[in-house]
Amino acid sequence: MRRGFPQKAIDFATFPVRAVMPFRAGERERWGLTSRASERLEYAARETVGYTLDVGCGPKNRLVAEYLGGNGFGVDVFDYDGSLGEEQVFEDLTTFPFEDGSFDSATLVAVIHHIPRSQRDAEMAEVHRVLRPGGNIILTQALPLAEILIHKITRVHARFLGKHYDIDLLREMHEEEEDHVTDEEIVERMARAGFRDIKKKPFPTQWGVNRVFVGWKK
Ligand SMILES: C[S@@+](CC[C@H](N)C(=O)[O-])C[C@H]1O[C@@H](n2cnc3c(N)ncnc32)[C@H](O)[C@@H]1O
Repeated sequence: MRRGFPQKAIDFATFPVRAVMPFRAGERERWGLTSRASERLEYAARETVGYTLDVGCGPKNRLVAEYLGGNGFGVDVFDYDGSLGEEQVFEDLTTFPFEDGSFDSATLVAVIHHIPRSQRDAEMAEVHRVLRPGGNIILTQALPLAEILIHKITRVHARFLGKHYDIDLLREMHEEEEDHVTDEEIVERMARAGFRDIKKKPFPTQWGVNRVFVGWKK
């Protein structure tokens, strides 16, 4: 599922088009251009260091199934299309049904702003608990302005055209979910949960508009 250099060059050159292009959920590419959602899975996957817990995995558990060769486990609060098993869906993710140190990596790909604000620290602390020492947490989050714009665009599509490009609009959202979270909040919450050596890495093929945050459990 990893792109070669020619595809990356095309994706880089066409980013302004891809930035506003609505891709269907799970759509990997259209007209030879990679979807932003697939790209964020690829950037997150390459930071993993072993068996991975994907928190907020979304339909079809794509990160684990398509990018990690099955080496992980995806959980979510909602099963959008019947593709997740009942052992993967939990209404409340502030406690995970996993032993301490069960995973090498944990990913939250475009997820942190969907965790209700008052539950974010508890969920991050759970991620820290289930990682082994030396394991890492990997989060992706776009620049706040980009998150706000893309959420507005997808809401217009859903309301006036009946097209749902944003899967989260298909469930009843919690009132404390948000369209974006600032970089400062992400780094502070990661540090508060116990993660160290936190680094922010921009996605080159999205001109730095989206980024991956990586922190380590000592
Ligand atoms: C924008 S989607 C991203 C899905 C997937 N990670 C991806 O990149 O394709 C946000 C996901 O977060 C999930 N979610 C909502 N509340 C959550 C929570 N409290 N903890 C974890 N995930 C949550 C949603 O159900 C949804 O699958």
